[in-house]
Amino acid sequence: MKIPHFKLERYFAKYEFTAPYLLCCSDCESFSVRELLEMESGAADEFNDLWLGYTESLGSPDLRKEIASLYNGIEPDHVMVHSGAEEAIFIFMNVVLEKGDHVIVHWPCYQSLAEIAKSIGCEVTQWKTHEADRWAMDTDFLKENLRENTKAVVINCPHNPTGYILPEEKCSEISDLSEKHGFTIFSDEVYKFLEYDEKDRMPSFCDLNDKAVSLGVMSKSFGLAGLRIGWIATKNKAVYDKMAAFKDYTTICSSAPGEFLATLGLRHKDQLIRRNKKIISDNLNVLDRFFERHQSVFNWHKPKAGPIAFPSLADNGDAEAFCDRLVKGSGVLLMPGAMYDSSYQKNFRIGFGRKNLPEVVDRLVLFLKKEM
Ligand SMILES: Cc1ncc(COP(=O)(O)O)c(C=O)c1O
Repeated sequence: MKIPHFKLERYFAKYEFTAPYLLCCSDCESFSVRELLEMESGAADEFNDLWLGYTESLGSPDLRKEIASLYNGIEPDHVMVHSGAEEAIFIFMNVVLEKGDHVIVHWPCYQSLAEIAKSIGCEVTQWKTHEADRWAMDTDFLKENLRENTKAVVINCPHNPTGYILPEEKCSEISDLSEKHGFTIFSDEVYKFLEYDEKDRMPSFCDLNDKAVSLGVMSKSFGLAGLRIGWIATKNKAVYDKMAAFKDYTTICSSAPGEFLATLGLRHKDQLIRRNKKIISDNLNVLDRFFERHQSVFNWHKPKAGPIAFPSLADNGDAEAFCDRLVKGSGVLLMPGAMYDSSYQKNFRIGFGRKNLPEVVDRLVLFLKKEM
């Protein structure tokens, strides 16, 4: 398989562990193993006695039960655990798509959501969203671009990097289109539960549509990226069975400590999410003040969910050059929009799921003073 570089991950590879002040991380502040184990009495002893043999390929029954409870109509048998969300994206695309198929992908996107389909030989239509429309998804665009051979529509809400959420009526419209035209919805929902207003929470597509596949992970909303535990939830048995068989060629099964700690974390999900939403809301207050004071430099649209947003340079300047000067001059790392797509050159991703954001923003302010 030949596949172009994952631009955003390569950018991180260059700076993530050398730039001292990360201001573009897509996840929330993490927890230590000790903090997780202290959430439940007896958990530390159980963890110490954990058997380190192979685990069940579909995921441990306890973990699948906890994951199923995140949805409305999903049973543990509809859930398959993967090593991160990334493995599930790779496997879904490989079992559902064939060369010559057409796929429509919510744009901009986490690169693997489009790139794997392209590497298989599919034609990808970008379902492009724009800052001027507050990143809204236009379902007329979807209707106009469906073809006979459209095999899948890939949606990511809450969205990386804009924090956009589809209104419920648009979810139903997309689900109806899938039934009418026969495409499969692949719904990346890794930021679910981080809506600032719970009324905005959209239904999971696997609950709305019997063919749809929903994607989840411990990394983002729960702040446990190091566990490398992700999953799919779907009532689509044909796709489920094919994914299970393909997994024998990727990881076979997930790590036993990862599964144990993910199960524990999900039993205490309300506590994890409450902590993460508090960090996000405190940080958003800092960012609102920062952008208010720097209106002449940046355009800022507050997102509706998640720990990331996609502001832009007000003078239409080149954000990649700006980010480069910033990281070299002050050690603060932002993610240039060009790492998503060259048409977002004036945008950059800012991440606000980490506790040290106020300190990092102070450094950004000092840098701007020197630049201006
Ligand atoms: C939208 C989206 N989907 C999937 C992933 C992959 O998640 P993981 O790295 O936990 O496998 C990411 C990671 O940044 C993401 O932002």
